[in-house]
Amino acid sequence: MDTTDKTAYRVEEGADLEARRLEYLGAMFDPASTALLERLVRPGDHVLEVGVGGGSIARWLADRVGPDGRVLATDIDLQFAGEPPANLELREHDITVDPLPEASFDLARARGVLQHLDRREDALERMVAATKPGGWVVAEDADFWTFESQAIPEPLATVCRTLQDAYTEMSGHDRYLGRRLVPFLRGAGLVDVDAEGHVFAMHGGQPSAEWYFLGIARAGPALVSAGLFDEDTLTRALTQARDPDFAALSPIAVAAWGRKPA
Ligand SMILES: C[S@@+](CC[C@H](N)C(=O)[O-])C[C@H]1O[C@@H](n2cnc3c(N)ncnc32)[C@H](O)[C@@H]1O
Repeated sequence: MDTTDKTAYRVEEGADLEARRLEYLGAMFDPASTALLERLVRPGDHVLEVGVGGGSIARWLADRVGPDGRVLATDIDLQFAGEPPANLELREHDITVDPLPEASFDLARARGVLQHLDRREDALERMVAATKPGGWVVAEDADFWTFESQAIPEPLATVCRTLQDAYTEMSGHDRYLGRRLVPFLRGAGLVDVDAEGHVFAMHGGQPSAEWYFLGIARAGPALVSAGLFDEDTLTRALTQARDPDFAALSPIAVAAWGRKPA
């Protein structure tokens, strides 16, 4: 994409932006997620994927559990989930309120979902209830400490912070949940809780940066309408984010997992 074209962020529909954002998110975060899941998921398992998004992990899980296993993948919005293989069921479902079978899954996981939810305790409790005794619950969420503690150019830094603050005010979004995942899982009654995290360099205009900045491109116009910053500020911020010379450390992608007591 031409990084000098200041209208580039206006010509795509919101749905196209979101499909591409989810694709890049998968490209950047799937390798660490699947490395962990390879340790926890076996052929024949029954797995719950909450907030399926673009569906890349759900399809990986379906392949991993094989023909004797099953995957149930849920989301409040399934439009980006793609075509499911035979052993993958896609279900429109809100993890905070909709029913799930009790004690049915060998593993239940959610990546980049719980931190967005005001009722994240309820969501985790329901994931634990749906897991078999002895099964695993995995939560993966970002911690923006690394991203926010480095020198990001202005106005990009302010636009990022304003957007995150607006999400928190609107929906209780917690951009620092990553650092709290271990006590969060232990507080839900899980045992053998462990965690790991990874960071990577975000390069301007590349998938390593666009998985995040496409979200700003999508939400930015609403924040301009709300008067949180003006259109010129948004355009300058997004142009900085796509400058090939831009490079920054990503938020920490924290994965935590624990076992439901047998
Ligand atoms: C940041 S995306 C992450 C998608 C995917 N888990 C991934 O890591 O690639 C968050 C996803 O959670 C879904 N979501 C948000 N609230 C939800 C809820 N209450 N129940 C189920 N899914 C939800 C969104 O629709 C979106 O697909």
